[in-house]
Amino acid sequence: MAASTLSPSTTSQLCSSKNGLFSSSQALMVKPARTQLARKETGVKITCQATSIPADRVPDMGKRELMNLLLLGALSLPTAGMLVPYASFFVPPGTGGAGGGTIAKDALGNDVIASDWLKSHGPGDRTLTQGLKGDPTYLVVESDRSLATYGINAVCTHLGCVVPWNAAENKFICPCHGSQYNYQGKVVRGPAPLSLALAHADIDDGKVLFVPWVETDFRTGENPWWA
Ligand code: FES
Repeated sequence: MAASTLSPSTTSQLCSSKNGLFSSSQALMVKPARTQLARKETGVKITCQATSIPADRVPDMGKRELMNLLLLGALSLPTAGMLVPYASFFVPPGTGGAGGGTIAKDALGNDVIASDWLKSHGPGDRTLTQGLKGDPTYLVVESDRSLATYGINAVCTHLGCVVPWNAAENKFICPCHGSQYNYQGKVVRGPAPLSLALAHADIDDGKVLFVPWVETDFRTGENPWWA
């Protein structure tokens, strides 16, 4: 009867028999009739004794919550450390320049300074630079010796060869399968299915800055296939 007066959280009963110790809850799992029978048949004597945990040794709710928070924090830090690089794998790399653009690089990897470029590149010149996402991109010098406001991506839209500029023909002619593009990169002969991609060529602090071209393709009047 002593067990019924004690708190369940602090009290338990241990029962003993010849077969060892077991708790009162285990004892309750046994059907009473069968228990009686076992007692009669084997003469086993079962005695139960109430035990209790001192109240000052039971953690209060505040401590439990604190321990849970500490455990959560300890698990969260290494988990976040693993998830951040994993998630960043699926994020497209930044374009690496001011305002979402990329500073054009010359053949030596130096930033292209517009004024210097125009000193050494005459009207009609089309010279490769490094553009958006590292793609080879032509800088175009107009007939009035200014830089065109667009750059031409040199990657052939057929199978990806870099298309050289042919000044004599006034065209870009792909050496791989013979596709041809006019002086602005518009496809004029297949098998290439599409014109060369465009990028804006802006001047930012004296440097040439390529910015993604998402507006209508002025050569075809259509939406840009590359955007
Ligand atoms: S890759 Fe340019 S024509 Fe085939």
